Amino acid sequence: MIDELKKEIEGVKHSFLKEIEQLQSPENFSALKERYLSRKKGVISSLLLRLKEFAPAEKPQAGQAINVFKAFIETTLAGVEEKLTGSRGGAETWHDHSLPASALPIGRFHLIASIKQQIEDLFLNLGYEIALGPEVELADFNFTKLNIPEHHPARDEQDTFFLEGHDELLLRTHTSPMQVRYMLAHKPPFKIISPGKAFRKDDPDATHSPCFHQVEGLLVDRGIHFSHLKGTLEAFCRSFYGPDIVLRFRPGYFPFTEPSAEVDISCFLCSGGRSDCRICKGSGWLEILGSGMVHPQVLRNCGIDPDEYSGFAFGMGIERVAMVKYGVPDLRLLYENDLRLLGQFG
Ligand code: DAH
Repeated sequence: MIDELKKEIEGVKHSFLKEIEQLQSPENFSALKERYLSRKKGVISSLLLRLKEFAPAEKPQAGQAINVFKAFIETTLAGVEEKLTGSRGGAETWHDHSLPASALPIGRFHLIASIKQQIEDLFLNLGYEIALGPEVELADFNFTKLNIPEHHPARDEQDTFFLEGHDELLLRTHTSPMQVRYMLAHKPPFKIISPGKAFRKDDPDATHSPCFHQVEGLLVDRGIHFSHLKGTLEAFCRSFYGPDIVLRFRPGYFPFTEPSAEVDISCFLCSGGRSDCRICKGSGWLEILGSGMVHPQVLRNCGIDPDEYSGFAFGMGIERVAMVKYGVPDLRLLYENDLRLLGQFG
C-alpha cells in the first residue's frame, strides 16, 4: 500500500516539475497553484483524503510521505512565484520614478564631539584660542604647579593612573594642567579654551567613567576681576542653554583658584517650577562647572607676576553638559555607540 503511494507521489512530482518548466504567465501560475494546493480539490488534499484507506500501522508513514511532498510543492511554488513577480523586466513592469529614493544612512558627529564643537564655536566667537594639551602629563603640571600639594588626596594612587616606572608621569586627571603649559609658554594677555580627555580611577556608573571629557578655560590680562568671569560665563551659558538662563555662583574650593565658585544654571526646562522635573529633579538648579580667579601662587609658579596680572579659569565636563542639556540619564549610554541614541542627539 505504502509503496503504491510512494510511486504515485513520484509520478505526480514528475508531472508537477514538467508543468513548472512550461509555465509562462502569472495567470497560469495561479491555476497551477490552485490545482495542487487547493484545500477542496487540490492534488495534495486528495492524497490526504486517501489516508483513511491505510491500516493504522501504515498511517503515520503514509502521512509523512504526503506531508514531505506537500512541503516540496510549497517551496518550489514560492521560488517560482518570486521569480515571476519579483524580477520580471519588460513592458508590463511599472516603476514610479517620482517616489523618493530610499534613505542612505548618513554619519554624524557623536554627541560628545558635537557638544565640544558647539562650546568651541561659542568661545571662538568671544575671541578665545583653542590650545590642546597632552593626555599623558607631568605630575608637576597636573598637581604641583596648580597648587595641589604633595599630600593632597587627589594624588592618591587610588584616584589617578600613574605610568608604570614613571612616578612623574600620569594620565591627566583634569584639563587644568593646560593652564600651566600655556602660561609657561606665553606672555599675557591671552584667552584660551582647552578641550580634551581626562582620566580618573573611577568605577563606571551612571555619573562616573574612568575616561571622560572636559573643556578648560583661562584668561589672563591686566585688571581682570570676578565680574569678567561672571560676564563671560553668563554670555556662554545664555548662548548655549538659552537666553533666559540665570546663573548662580556658589562658593567652592579648588586649590588653583581663589576665590573659587561652583556655577549652577537655572533649569532650562522648568525654571524651577516643577517638583517632578526630569532635568533638575525639582531643585530648579543644575550644577554645570567649576571656576574661579587664578590663584596668585599658580601665576607665580608659571612665571607670571600676580601683582601685574590677574585672570580667571573655569572647567566643565562635556558628559555632564550632555546629560544636563539633552537629559541623557546615564553617562554610560554615551559610550555604548548605540546608533539609536547617537542618531537622536548627534
Ligand atoms: N579641574 C577641575 C576639576 O576637574 C575643574 C575646574 C574648576 C577647572 C575650577 C578650573 C577651575 O579651571 O577654575 O574638577
